[in-house]
Amino acid sequence: MQHFRTLLDVTPDQLRQLLEEAARLKVGWQRGERPALLARRVLGLVFEKPSLRTRVSFEAAMAQLGGSSIFLSEADGGMGRREPVPDFARVLSQYVDVVALRVFSQKTVEEFAACSSCPVINALSDLDHPCQALGDLMTMQEQFGKVAGRTLVFVGDGNNVARSLALGCGMLGVRFILSAPEGYRFDAAFEKLFHTSCPQGELLQEGDPVRAVAKADVLYTDVWTSMGQEAERQERLQRFANYQVNAQLLARAPAHARVMHCLPARRGEEITADVFEGPQSLVIPQAANRLHAQKSLLCWLVQS
Ligand code: CP
Ligand code: NVA
Repeated sequence: MQHFRTLLDVTPDQLRQLLEEAARLKVGWQRGERPALLARRVLGLVFEKPSLRTRVSFEAAMAQLGGSSIFLSEADGGMGRREPVPDFARVLSQYVDVVALRVFSQKTVEEFAACSSCPVINALSDLDHPCQALGDLMTMQEQFGKVAGRTLVFVGDGNNVARSLALGCGMLGVRFILSAPEGYRFDAAFEKLFHTSCPQGELLQEGDPVRAVAKADVLYTDVWTSMGQEAERQERLQRFANYQVNAQLLARAPAHARVMHCLPARRGEEITADVFEGPQSLVIPQAANRLHAQKSLLCWLVQS
């Protein structure tokens, strides 16, 4: 059974094919084409955390492809509380063709997938956000054409978004630099995973954001406090204070550099309003690409 629990569930070639198909679907969609590639197929969404982009782009994708979706919030499903995850997975996966999970723990994704009779997509966990990485890599390809040899600098927390994007960059030959304060960097286990999975990949960590962005093609950032970390917010605000993507930092990057953010953003914290809204920002078209990237993913998982 093919799943998308992390980006490492696909090979670099499969990743390239998913991105090519996403670009094709986007062009067709812009021409007004609405192929019913997933007619009468059903996506189950089980979300323990809030979402705008991921939920709506998945639901819209299924509707536009002729299928439908069923959304279960924490209150509806009670996965892991009302009944154990394996029971939930074995039952739900008999009703639908594919399941997307947004959960607190990556272990839940793994546990679900191990018992599921249909493909499982990680729609964000504590450790990974592979659907975000798919849309982001698509956005970079649109911007730069071939992305191999480019440099992406992630300024901020070495979190779920950073980890998935690092793996995606490693698979496509994009140098990934994480600029994070001590304590918020990738740990040795992740570095090992990266180098084992992407032997040709380049993963660097540079504590000084000014030095980090000197050769950046992309400056990427995300919130300093992710969902589920709210109790650490005050401490994180202090620790990340020097890691804001603002006009001064952007001025230290090459003039062609672009700014990306997975959203939602906290203006005045990890990114300033002027940079968010500025001419180098890709954040809004970046969000649009979630739709096309996930259509490609859904078609591949459901049809294969
Ligand atoms: N970027 C992202 O996944 O946004 P949502 O949390 O709104 O889905
Ligand atoms: N790192 C953020 C991403 C939100 C899309 C979080 O997990 O809350």
